[in-house]
This record gives sequence, C-alpha cells and structure tokens, in this order.
Amino acid sequence: MAHAVHFHDQRQQAAYASLRDETLAGFAAEPKWASPKYFYDRRGSELFEQICQQPEYYPTRTEELILTQAAGAIAEIAGHAANLVELGSGASRKVRLLLEAMHPSSYLGIDISQEFLLASTRRLASDYPWLEVHAACADFSQPMALPAGFDGAHPLLFFPGSSIGNFTPEQARVFLGNLHELLPKGGGLLIGVDRLKDKALLEAAYNDEAGVTAAFNLNLLQRIRQELDSDIDPTRFVHHAFFNEAHSRIEMHLISPQAQQVMIEGACFRFAAGESLHTENSYKYRPESFCDLAGTAGFKARAHWSDPRQLFSVHYLERE
Ligand code: AVI
Repeated sequence: MAHAVHFHDQRQQAAYASLRDETLAGFAAEPKWASPKYFYDRRGSELFEQICQQPEYYPTRTEELILTQAAGAIAEIAGHAANLVELGSGASRKVRLLLEAMHPSSYLGIDISQEFLLASTRRLASDYPWLEVHAACADFSQPMALPAGFDGAHPLLFFPGSSIGNFTPEQARVFLGNLHELLPKGGGLLIGVDRLKDKALLEAAYNDEAGVTAAFNLNLLQRIRQELDSDIDPTRFVHHAFFNEAHSRIEMHLISPQAQQVMIEGACFRFAAGESLHTENSYKYRPESFCDLAGTAGFKARAHWSDPRQLFSVHYLERE
C-alpha cells in the first residue's frame, strides 16, 4: 500500500523570476557572481548526490558516522516525542538514523527542489508506515513559517550537510535567527558543520578526480541556458575551487579562459580572458567559533559530536 505524503507548497514566488533576477544582477556585478541555491535543479541534485559518494568528499560519510554513533544521545536530549523537521531534505538518508533513534510522531521535509523532495519523502513514508510524513516546498534561506501542526509542537529542527557553510557568517547569523523564531523556548536545532582543517584535504574535496564537482558547478550555466533566454555555452568555462585562508572558506568559481560575451534575457555580458563568475562559498568553522556564532543568534550550545579525525562536527543547539 502507498503511504501518503502531506504536501505544502510554500514557494513565495515563481522560481523562474528569482533565477532570472538573480542571474541578471550577478552577471552585471563586479566581480560577477551567481547564487549557489540554483545548483539544485534535477540534474544538479543528482550530481550533488554523486559528489557525496566521491572518495575525496568526506563531509557526507563523516556526518553519517557521527550521527550513527550519537543518535542515542541526541534522542535523549531531544526527547522521544519530538516532531522532526528537516531543512534541505535532499535524499533524506541521514534522517533515518534519527527517525530510528527518536521515533517521532511526524516528520516534515523542506526543500526547494519539489521533485527531489517528493521522491525522498515518499520513500520515507513507505519505509516508516508508523510515521506521518509531510513535505514542504520552500526556500528555507528566507524567513518562513512551519505548516500548521508543526509550529507549536516542540519540533527538533535538523539541518545536516554543513549547508550553513554556504552562507557568509553574517547571513548564517540571520538564518539562525530565523530558525530561532520557529522554535519554542527550549526547542532544539541539530546542525552539521564542516570543520576547519588541512588545506590540501579541503581542496581535494572540491576538486574530485572524477570531475563530478566540476560538472555540478558547470550545470549552473546549463540551467541558465535551458531556463532563461540565453546563448551561454558551459563548454567555454572551467571549474576552479580553492581554499581562501583569510576567510576560512572554499570558493568555487567558473572561469572564462577566453574573452567572450554572453546574452541573457536580451542583456549582453562581457567576460575578459581569465575572468571569473563566483558561484559558491563553503565556510569552515572551529567548533568553538561556530558555538559563538550560534550564541549571537540566541542559541545555547548544549552538545557537539565529532569524528576521530576531527573533520566534521554535529551540534545540538537549544533556543534560549
Ligand atoms: C551543500 N553544501 C554543503 C556543499 C558544500 O560542501 O559546500 C555544496 C558543494 N559544493 C561543492 N561540493 C559540494
């Protein structure tokens, strides 16, 4: 028997308008930028899943290891009856570890990619028949409300994957402040954070040998070409990722090796030879500095767990 997923469409505006507006703004800027939230169309989400399986990309498997070992302790702190709300639910694999340890009465997955969200929540609904499964399609990087039933019901928010690192520290503080508003006093936020570490290890993770991260980065241009009126040619750009020590972040760029001009929605943008389009930052934190950042957004650091190689940390924050 198929188990139903309760779907909530919480998109504020047509995705097309945002992709168009942000692309035009980013290509007109100096230096040029594009928002990483547009990586995740169907192809981009599939490529991201493949990145997570690359031998160089340690965050996913390390976070899974930490959650496997800490699930019991997390369930004890969170309380067994909590509703579980996952932000950026993606393939929803890590949450299974929590579902099994916590046995919440309901689960809500929130993601910007509707197709991916529905596929993953349907799998959860069929694998856990005792669980009430909800899916909300929303851009959770913006202030949002939880659907009725989740707002007052002591949810545990789960934000895995170290996606907090894709915000600048100031954006992260604002974002954490928005999550703070969603929680009642004493409510919990379980969040994965990639740790600051050796530069060579970090750079390898964003330059995998198989070229999957490069394909993921370039897919952003393919998406612009397909969804907007544009002649941009992804084969005329190359992937470039490096660790910026001063900002404690990996930067991803698309470089135009030759001078070229591209048309997007009737506007012409010129690239000089070697010019970059900055597509993503991925900030890396020491656990103490992340706890300080969370403190500025009104969270108390209750506990955090790490792996033996100290590559990644999972933090349990409590709303004060
Ligand atoms: C989703 N996010 C945490 C990934 C990261 O590591 O910053 C996105 C990614 N970009 C390149 N590889 C993975």
